[in-house]
Amino acid sequence: MIPAMPDEFREAMARLASGVVVVSAKSGDRYHGLTASTLVAVSVQPPLVLVSLEHETATLAAVRDTRRFNVSALTRDQEFTAERFAGRAPAVDADWRAIPHRLAANGIPLIESAAAWLECEVTEIHTAGDHDVCIARVTTATSGAGDTLILWDRSFWTVR
Ligand SMILES: Cc1cc2nc3c(=O)[nH]c(=O)nc-3n(C[C@H](O)[C@H](O)[C@H](O)COP(=O)(O)O)c2cc1C
Repeated sequence: MIPAMPDEFREAMARLASGVVVVSAKSGDRYHGLTASTLVAVSVQPPLVLVSLEHETATLAAVRDTRRFNVSALTRDQEFTAERFAGRAPAVDADWRAIPHRLAANGIPLIESAAAWLECEVTEIHTAGDHDVCIARVTTATSGAGDTLILWDRSFWTVR
């Protein structure tokens, strides 16, 4: 078997649709967040999710440090937020003044007007290639309104 080249791998994976979330974390007084398309529900009882975070990201460093993160599932109106947290639009300031947000009970920000929110406590971290797979127990799950933002074929979409 010939191993897939990165470009071919990316192209093949772009055929799959995924939700788009912001994974947020806190280290010291500073908030961190990144746009992610790798959130997966792993277990219902107990409620577990996983997200795969790239080694060089500031958000992974904060997650490793505190063993906590939150998730805001973005809506179609939050494409610009997805760009900002992917580092493709003006940088997010350390205290998120420009981002409508609230603080969850764990002190980590959640983005306002999202489609859903999760508060998570990390149970396992596994290094896998250039990412760390973070598995976490969901302590609070809340649903919002709005149509979910979807990544497909390297573009953002919604189903309605
Ligand atoms: C649509 C989309 C999905 C992404 N998914 C992930 C992901 O699942 N994991 C990850 O580590 N980075 C992902 N990224 C890249 C991060 O958002 C980007 O590296 C971010 O700027 C890291 O920020 P930080 O260093 O401040 O934590 C994605 C980017 C885009 C545009």
